[in-house]
This record gives sequence, structure tokens and C-alpha cells, in this order.
Amino acid sequence: MAKQTLSIIGMGKMGEAIARGLMDSSLRSGYRIIGTTRTEESAREAERTLGVEVTTSNEDAIDSADIILLSVKPHQVEKILKTQEKLFHSKQLIISICAAITTEQISEWCGGKPAIIRAMPNTPCLIKSGVTAICAGPRSEDAHLKAAERIFGELGRVTILEESLFDGVTGLSGCGPAYVYLMIEALSEAGVKVGISRKQATALAAQTLMGAAKMVLDRSEHPAALKDEVTTPAGCTIDGLMALEEGKLRVTLIKAVLAATRRSKLMRK
Ligand SMILES: NC(=O)c1ccc[n+]([C@@H]2O[C@H](COP(=O)([O-])OP(=O)(O)OC[C@H]3O[C@@H](n4cnc5c(N)ncnc54)[C@H](OP(=O)(O)O)[C@@H]3O)[C@@H](O)[C@H]2O)c1
Repeated sequence: MAKQTLSIIGMGKMGEAIARGLMDSSLRSGYRIIGTTRTEESAREAERTLGVEVTTSNEDAIDSADIILLSVKPHQVEKILKTQEKLFHSKQLIISICAAITTEQISEWCGGKPAIIRAMPNTPCLIKSGVTAICAGPRSEDAHLKAAERIFGELGRVTILEESLFDGVTGLSGCGPAYVYLMIEALSEAGVKVGISRKQATALAAQTLMGAAKMVLDRSEHPAALKDEVTTPAGCTIDGLMALEEGKLRVTLIKAVLAATRRSKLMRK
């Protein structure tokens, strides 16, 4: 099969993670990857670290692309697409990972010809442990959705969701790694407080989160049932859980996701 050209517009953190994931995967031989950045300095740096072609010309990258992956900051999307509007055609697929920007907006800004897909990955995609929600937009067919599923499948799990839920996905799994780092940091502080070295406390905390998360995913049981397994009557865990309930951990986490979701909605306005 002929190679497809995948142009990544915005070779920053996420753009690089996607390029790297593809290059380390069986899809490598199927794509020629071109990246773009705003500055020459970033282009040379990304080219050096990734070993793919990186340019500051969105025009060249879009003109030669079969698939265009948008990974610039949300406020930059409209200008970039409108400036290059004449280059887009109906055989192209645009996949946008930009928070808050809808497939309808992208379709309008690029002149209404390419198929559009929206995706919301997260930073653990950098180590192929991410999760990405994807949805179909204007003109996208099954084959387009499958292509996006294959690409993000190389970077972790993929789930298909309605676009109306994407602000919520942004607030939950897009921003979620930051919430979890905060929890690891706090648990690590607790370890230090009880006399464990910072390094060992951080490893204990991080591995505990990872192990518990893997139990939820592998066993497909309700987290409450898994929590009960750890909680012996009159044991230590129930005292810890009581302290968490007193500190309103659950409602605080719910509020964090809702606040980030609201912010994602506001960014669109
Ligand atoms: N970070 C996350 O956790 C996360 C998760 C999910 C989705 N997202 C979405 O992913 C997108 C990118 O986020 P990021 O964290 O990867 O941002 P980032 O690290 O700041 O990268 C942005 C990239 O865009 C480039 N750029 C800026 N203007 C450009 C232009 N006119 N033409 C071409 N390239 C241009 C920048 O180049 P220079 O370095 O030269 O300025 C940089 O390489 C955002 O829309 C965000 O909503 C992010």
C-alpha cells in the first residue's frame, strides 16, 4: 500500500508524542510524517529529537497531506485553517486534538471539503499509556474513524464518544493526569511525614495508583467492590477512608472535573 502523508500541524508536546508513538509502531511504514512549528528553532529541535521532517511552512505540509493532525493551541486553529483554506480538498482527513474546538468550526474554517474527526488524547500518550476519546465529524466515514482509532491505538486506549461529551472528556481524562500527579505528590508527602525517603515514598505512591488503576481496568469490577477488598472490618484502611470522606475528596474531584469542563466550554466562546 502506498504511504500516506500525515502532517502534524504543531509539533509541540502532543504532536511530538503522536509522531513518536507512530514511529515506534507497526504503522511506521504506512506513513510519511511531516511536522510544523511556528519557529525555526522549535522545528530544528523537533527534527533533531524525532528524526522526521519538520518545517515552519503549514502551506507545504497541508498541500502534501492525506491526513492533517491539528495540535496547535486552540486559539491558533482558526487563523491557520483560514489562511490555508484554498489548499484543503475532499480527499483529506483532518484530525483535531485541540481542546474546545468543534468539528463544525474546523469544517467551516477549512472550507468544508475534508472529512473531520475530533480526538482528545492525554499526556501519558507519550509513553503509550494514554487514553483518547474520538468522534466523527462532518463527512467522516467508518474508514476515517478506523484510521484515527489505529493511530491513537498505538498510544494507549481509544474510546468513541459523542462530540457533545468532549468538554467533559477534556475535564476528566485530558486534564486528569494533573489531578493524579497532585495525588501522588500528596501521598508522597505523607510517606515523608511518616519517615520514608522522598524517593521511596514517591515510588510507593505512584505504583499504588498504577496498580489500583490496572485492577479496575483488568478486572472490570466496580471500584467500590475493589475498595471493599482492601477494607477489613476495624482495620487500618477504614480509618484512612474516613479521613478522606471528612476531607471531601470525592466531591472535590467531581468539582475539579466540572470546573475544567466549564473552562473548556468557555474557551470556545
Ligand atoms: N497538553 C495536553 O495535556 C493536551 C491533552 C489533550 C489535548 N491537548 C491539545 O493539544 C494541542 C497542543 O497542545 P500542546 O500541549 O502540545 O501545546 P504546545 O506544547 O504548546 O505545542 C504547540 C505547538 O504548536 C506550534 N505552533 C504554534 N503556532 C503555530 C503555527 N502558526 N503553525 C504551526 N505550528 C504552530 C508551536 O511551535 P513553536 O514551539 O515554534 O511556538 C508548538 O510546536 C492543544 O490544542 C491542546 O488543547 C493537549
